[in-house]
Amino acid sequence: MPTHDIATITKTLLAQVESSDSPRDVLRAPEFKDLYSAIAGLPPAERGDFGKAVNQLKQTVETAIETREAALEDSDVELLDVSAPWDVNSSRPALLPTENGTQHPLTKELDVVIDIFTRMGFEAVESRQIDDDYHMFGSLNFPENHPARDGYDTFRTEEGFIPPAHTSTMQNRILKEGKAKLEAGGQIAAISYGRVYRNEDVDATHEHTFYQVEGVFVSEYATLGDMLGTLRSFFEVYYGQSLKIKTQPGYFPFVEPGLEFLIEKPAALGGKPGEWLEMLGCGMIHPNVMKEAGLDPAKYRGFAWGGGVERLVMLKYGIEDLRHFESARLAFMRKFA
Ligand code: PHE
Repeated sequence: MPTHDIATITKTLLAQVESSDSPRDVLRAPEFKDLYSAIAGLPPAERGDFGKAVNQLKQTVETAIETREAALEDSDVELLDVSAPWDVNSSRPALLPTENGTQHPLTKELDVVIDIFTRMGFEAVESRQIDDDYHMFGSLNFPENHPARDGYDTFRTEEGFIPPAHTSTMQNRILKEGKAKLEAGGQIAAISYGRVYRNEDVDATHEHTFYQVEGVFVSEYATLGDMLGTLRSFFEVYYGQSLKIKTQPGYFPFVEPGLEFLIEKPAALGGKPGEWLEMLGCGMIHPNVMKEAGLDPAKYRGFAWGGGVERLVMLKYGIEDLRHFESARLAFMRKFA
């Protein structure tokens, strides 16, 4: 046998694979070259066995390379968490932040709301937290410089972008996207949900930041009665009991007629007969909003509604102060854990 000690070389190469970040490079180690040229220098009778041993070595190293590459790939995924609030990237704590704690009560309740509408046949899309003047006002039939804009005036970035004051910013997108479905004889049924911002003096019932859920439904035959039935069903499922509802006129440039939707506060939730709570704004989609999205208002009818999520949740759980939600007060959050 030649002087080459295959067992020792195997050990050396495997150690190199184990410690390398690019283990495949080990296949180009000088040891391999030496071994191959050694084969040529052997008497023919010895070549076969030695060649086999060298091949065996190569295979062993290749298997080790594959194992090492897979391990490197896995560790990449686990170790790089760019959103981590502290340095979990160098050593994994017993619990990652995402494994420790629970969902925010609003997230949980929003899931319940989305679930109810999804089961009624609505698709759900998240709204944007930064939007533009067109989706905030122009597409929604707000005339330029009209006082109706005032109630929705938040602030703007230097480029003119807006943190939206309502989820109605999604109406134009939902209508445009649903056009093909409508023209194929179907209907548009979607909700959008997300964070919205208002220029408010904050108190127990007003926040500058809150959540809304918006609904849009369009078909050839949609009626105001369908809307009231849809909303009533939603509230009855959400509160788990039958409810009295009523409407009163409300003004929103993007619906005509526009309504405010009220429910009678249920006795089980501390209400007295005749105690009405305004839950959301709604109405039949304005012809100009339809036209702006490319839909023929003579052919299609639709309704839309939008309202705050906090208000729903406060009534359900008897929460007296809206500010708790954004307060990060753990004692409050833990009641919902
Ligand atoms: N976007 C309105 C608001 O937040 C609510 C609304 C939505 C009214 C859809 C009518 C139709 O004040």
